[in-house]
Amino acid sequence: MTKPQIWVAAFLAAFILLFILQKATKKEEAPTRDLSSQMNNQMSEENTTELTAAQLISNFGCTNCHGGELQGTQMAPALINLSEHWGKETLLNYLRNPNDFMDEARFKEYREKYPNQIMPPYGNKNIKDLGKIVDYLLTK
Ligand code: HEC
Repeated sequence: MTKPQIWVAAFLAAFILLFILQKATKKEEAPTRDLSSQMNNQMSEENTTELTAAQLISNFGCTNCHGGELQGTQMAPALINLSEHWGKETLLNYLRNPNDFMDEARFKEYREKYPNQIMPPYGNKNIKDLGKIVDYLLTK
């Protein structure tokens, strides 16, 4: 073989090798993934993104404790004038992890006032849904 021929052969060999490798790894990456669960995921996300903040608040059970109009109940404080105390970022963090804010004076009072209830964490919820709720709470 001449030198150019060797180069061409080497190139071809490299291509074929890459091709085979690609096929081989593709097979590994394609497990028999449960299609219906994927579809379910998509559907539940679509479902919640169509909901208004008020609907999310009732879906997530906030109204069970805070009252149908978020006016406050014997179990939990009214959710009014929240923008006096919270920014968007901090309120979002609070909903995801209320425990982090327990040391603030306001929350010490809440604990005495509502000794049998605590604000549950919503860290497992879709961040976009929580963002929608936060925007709503800060403007009402
Ligand atoms: C099991 C009852 C319960 C549920 C459900 C609940 N909360 Fe609370 N929430 C409380 C209590 C009690 C407090 C007072 C703080 C504490 O004791 O943890 C509180 C405090 C808060 C505060 C702080 C109020 C302030 O003055 O800064 C916000 C905001 C809030 N909740 C929003 C929500 C939202 C939004 C939801 C739904 C995603 C929700 N809560 C669901 C019981 C609840």
